[in-house]
Amino acid sequence: MVLKNFFNKTKYEKKIAEESVNLEVIPSHIAIIMDGNGRWAKKRAMPRIAGHHEGMKTVRKIARVADDLGVKVLTLYAFSTENWKRPKSEVEFLMSLPEKFLNDFLPEIMERNIRVQMIGEKEGLPEHTKKALNKALEKTKNNTGLILNFAMNYGSRAEIVNAIKKMMIDVQEGTLNFDSITEETMNQYLMTSHLPEPDLLIRTSGEVRLSNFMLWQLAYTEFWFTDTLWPDFNEETFLEAIQAYQKRNRRYGGLKGEEIN
Ligand code: FPP
Repeated sequence: MVLKNFFNKTKYEKKIAEESVNLEVIPSHIAIIMDGNGRWAKKRAMPRIAGHHEGMKTVRKIARVADDLGVKVLTLYAFSTENWKRPKSEVEFLMSLPEKFLNDFLPEIMERNIRVQMIGEKEGLPEHTKKALNKALEKTKNNTGLILNFAMNYGSRAEIVNAIKKMMIDVQEGTLNFDSITEETMNQYLMTSHLPEPDLLIRTSGEVRLSNFMLWQLAYTEFWFTDTLWPDFNEETFLEAIQAYQKRNRRYGGLKGEEIN
């Protein structure tokens, strides 16, 4: 396989050659809990929002490399339903990031044929954030490349509860048969119904928890944790995660061929 965009010879291309990242076994769906922006800023005696601003630049870097490698879906946890508890000024800054990000990056998103999507409660977002996201969703809706999926105002337990409520309504209305409900039915009622399950979950900054992120969807996902803070995360760290993934033996609870006898 040839890298899609040889826009220049980068350090990570060298890494691919040197450390044998297998371009045939790239995870289709990578989900990332981007953590450590605040600590990154604190280490530099900067305000927390400076860390988020730097984190936004990392989003751009990782979207590019994911696209280059042929990843199909990149889901980024950008704002959780719990993040509303943060100081008002920080929340306001976080809500301005989609706008800032898309103002700069949308032309390249179009050039790369990237499709922007989101999961989470869009209605709970401020008007200007919704507007920026809607514009990107609309403008990129016919793009067929990487799906860049932002989890904004997202909480997995709420998503599951809503899915159950919708199922109950459909059962009541007779459009869903109670006895035919399976795990696949649940998949169809989640916000990710149109996406494959994540193959790889990355969390940065040394925290080792899921923080209410895609609890149902991550049942068989490979997890990879790094101490690197999100603003310091780069193409090399991303490849390290993919290399680790390629060494894992995914069995989905069963046995691999050679283990059966
Ligand atoms: C967690 O770090 C990070 C967030 C709550 C926000 C993540 C958002 C971005 C990286 C930018 C998103 C960009 C777009 C385009 C939407 P933290 O603040 O909890 O860090 P800490 O644990 O060190 O305090």
